[in-house]
This record gives sequence, structure tokens and C-alpha cells, in this order.
Amino acid sequence: MLKIGLIGCGRISKNHFEAVADQADAEIAACCDIVEERASGAASTYGIPVWTTRYQEMLERKDIDLISICTPSGFHPQHGILAARAGKHVLTEKPMGCRLEEADELIETCQKHGVRLFVVLQNRLNPAVKLTRRAYDEGRFGRIYMITSNVFWTRPQEYYDMAPWRGSWALDGGAFMNQASHYVDMVQWFGGEIDKVEAITATLARKIEVEDTGAAIIRFKNGAIGSINVTMLTYPKNMEGSITILGEKGTVRIGGTSMNKIEHWQFGDIRPYDKEIERHNTNPDSVYGFGHNGYYQNVINSIMNDSIPSSDGLEGRKSLCLLEQIYMKKS
Ligand SMILES: NC(=O)c1ccc[n+]([C@@H]2O[C@H](COP(=O)([O-])OP(=O)(O)OC[C@H]3O[C@@H](n4cnc5c(N)ncnc54)[C@H](O)[C@@H]3O)[C@@H](O)[C@H]2O)c1
Repeated sequence: MLKIGLIGCGRISKNHFEAVADQADAEIAACCDIVEERASGAASTYGIPVWTTRYQEMLERKDIDLISICTPSGFHPQHGILAARAGKHVLTEKPMGCRLEEADELIETCQKHGVRLFVVLQNRLNPAVKLTRRAYDEGRFGRIYMITSNVFWTRPQEYYDMAPWRGSWALDGGAFMNQASHYVDMVQWFGGEIDKVEAITATLARKIEVEDTGAAIIRFKNGAIGSINVTMLTYPKNMEGSITILGEKGTVRIGGTSMNKIEHWQFGDIRPYDKEIERHNTNPDSVYGFGHNGYYQNVINSIMNDSIPSSDGLEGRKSLCLLEQIYMKKS
């Protein structure tokens, strides 16, 4: 039984508690939050035997193998580094940090202490995405010409006002880094190594330090061109979260609330699994998707069988690297 300690009992922690409860070979043995009612509340709601407001106390427990980090993004590296130094495997929510330098320190510390590092990029495991990746790996797109992603969502001022870390440079990052980070990951995952990035960002309507709207253009080393258009100001509600891959011999567009629905699928050749597309179209109500369950399965399997996970620290680093380039180039 893999024993997990979870830090940060806020909004996303629900997905973690529920996903682990579904696993036969893992359990959350302790949870921690600096806000006492959140730690105790989560413990009573999800039947967690131990709760604490002191992270160090949780790290000192010998029975815990893995720490799941659900604190504000800017804290992920420091909470991960402390866990690695305590000899625990680390699973961090996305993004793995707000600065590449800090993420690198986390990667190095995990390597030094011989523990595994996982970054929650659950959308890579969506059936619609996995099918598209299969077609990509089989070379069905031919040469990739263009990859575009649109994230037209709505986040009212009250969303940013919910917690002081939201909308700050130090702990959150803007629409690209927080809300669109899965889409940024997907664009680089299909696009490959990056040659050049240009970006324009703006804070058009919300009272926040970071951007609520922006557009980025990317040239990949293979010559393909990518673009990511993001706004949190869509009227009156979330409208689109999509990625479109346009290749020489294939075109695919994945949409839905969190890249769960194949909206267009066309290739020059025909394969038996093309018929399965409808079966793979799952559209969860939430933009968080329902991939945490699959993500934990992947992590547990990876720890127990020493296999490669769907997204480790080095994979998580790639989208953070692109995000940092977008922010460095913004005007
Ligand atoms: N994978 C996804 O799709 C997805 C979706 C939503 C959020 N997230 C990520 O999850 C993280 C948390 O987001 P959220 O919406 O749950 O935020 P939140 O503000 O609701 O929760 C964060 C919690 O961390 C606690 N906390 C802060 N500092 C702490 C510390 N030093 N020690 C212990 N607890 C501390 C806060 O009290 C709060 O309860 C963010 O990095 C976000 O990007 C990922």
C-alpha cells in the first residue's frame, strides 16, 4: 500500500482525495493545510486518519512514501524540495513552479535524494488526447504545419479575490500559466522543441498583477508554427478550450471542456481505431476534467513497477520553459 501525505486542502485537493480513494493500492494517510479548518475538514470529509497544520510534522512520518502538493503554484518547488530531502517521492500539481530556476532546483533535489518527481498533467491521459497522440506517434499527420490552441474561458473578479495568491506573479502567474497551462503543455508536446516565441499579453479587465488575456506565436525547430490564444474574459461563460493540429496528411481538433472531445478527425489513411472516436469522446462538466484518477493510477504503477510515468519532472519542465519564454517575450 502506497501511503500519501497531501499538502494544501483547497479546491483541487478534492480531485486528489477522490482519485486516491478509488485506488486499491494507495491511500492518503495524512493531510496538511495552514488553515486548520481546511485540514481538519478534509480529514473528516474523506476519512483521513491524521491532519496537521505543520508540514514538517507530516514529513517526519516514516509511513508516508509520497507527498502530493496542492498548494499555490509558487510554493510547489519549496514544498517539493522539503519532501525530497525527507526521502519522499513528490507529486506536484501543475505548474511545477512559477520560475524555471526553482523548478530546476526541485528536479535536482529529487535526483540527489533518489526520489521520483511527478507533475500532474492529467489531460495527457484523456482518451481523446491519447488517441490523437497515437496517430501522431504512428506518423499519420506527416509533417506538422501548424498547431493552434484557443482557451476562451471566463474568470470573474471574485475568482481572483478568493485568495491573495491568485493573480499574483510570485505565486500564480497569469492566464497562460494558470488556466491555460494544460494547453501550453499540449502545444509543446505535439510541436516539439521550440525555436522562437513572440507574445503579447494584457490585463484588460481584472484587477490583478498578471495577464487576463494574451496571444503567443511559436516557431518549432521542425519548422511548424504554433499559436496560443487565451482570455479569461469570455462573455458570459467558458466557451472553448481546444487544440487543432494541422499536418500534411491529417487534421485533428480536440475541444470539449478540457480536451475531452474530438471535434474533427481526418487522415489520408484509415485505421480500425478511427471508428472508436465517438467512444473516446467524454466531456466532463468541469474544466479540471476527470483525469486525476487516471493520473494517480499512472503514478502508482510507475512507483511500484519502476516504470516511466506520463509526465515526470522533466516533462513538466518543458511547458514551464515555454511559459517562461512567453513571459520573457511579452509586450
Ligand atoms: N491539474 C489541474 O487541472 C488543476 C486544477 C486546478 C488547480 N490546480 C493547481 O492546484 C494548485 C492549488 O490550486 P487550488 O485552486 O486548489 O488553490 P486553493 O487556494 O483553493 O488551495 C490552496 C490551499 O493551500 C493551502 N496552503 C497555502 N500555503 C500553505 C502552506 N505553506 N502549507 C500548507 N497549506 C498551504 C491554502 O490554505 C489552501 O487551502 C495550484 O497550483 C493550481 O494551479 C491544478
